[in-house]
Amino acid sequence: MKINIAIDGPSASGKSTIAKALAKRLNYTHIDTGSMYRACAYLALKHELKPDDIELVDLVNKSDFGFNESGHILLNGKDIDAKIRSKHVDLLTSTIAQNQAIRSTLVDMQQQLANSKGFILDGRDIGSVVLKDAELKVFQTASIESRAKRRLAEYQTKGIDVNYQTIYDEIKLRDLQDRSREHSPLIQTKDAKVLDTSDLTIEQSVDRVYTWAMELIKERRDTND
Ligand code: CDP
Repeated sequence: MKINIAIDGPSASGKSTIAKALAKRLNYTHIDTGSMYRACAYLALKHELKPDDIELVDLVNKSDFGFNESGHILLNGKDIDAKIRSKHVDLLTSTIAQNQAIRSTLVDMQQQLANSKGFILDGRDIGSVVLKDAELKVFQTASIESRAKRRLAEYQTKGIDVNYQTIYDEIKLRDLQDRSREHSPLIQTKDAKVLDTSDLTIEQSVDRVYTWAMELIKERRDTND
């Protein structure tokens, strides 16, 4: 038997890394919903539109969003993954994510993509909006310091020149935008299990969520017997 898993949490807490590894281990499908919001920011930049332009909503509605086998986002069939992971796109994305018309279009698409069991979705509003009935909800967090260090390392491996303090300040700003926005703010739902990854390795974090998932699957199997 399969379940659905919702992973929410602030930026750079490692949600996508953990979700991807977990999906591989459980043979589930991972959907990185953040990359869909990032693709909207990419569209805005490409067409020189502002986050609240009505044309942007039209464009998002007309666009086709998908994922390839590597989990890369496909916009109208084109792999744009490498283009959406820049510092510039980071901040614009969390502003665009405040637009309710865009959120509602993306939520519909996400619910259509994950219309059965065996899905792991990560984002900000998965347990609270997109997959309210997910069997396992995880709220993944980490201190701002450890998140800034991780993001710095990520940028350095890509050869992007940026300092720790700039990243720290940007993460703080995105946290504030994501937690205080009017529509679907980042919240920890009452039924979510908290995973603080500040002092955990990727393997330890994956192990923990895997154990929670297996316990739930076993419980459900036992009650169905
Ligand atoms: O990789 P990181 O955690 O920094 O961000 P992400 O998951 O790629 O998401 C980028 C931005 O999209 C976030 O800062 C949110 O503002 C927004 N987002 C959202 O509002 N709802 C989601 N389900 C996923 C992302």
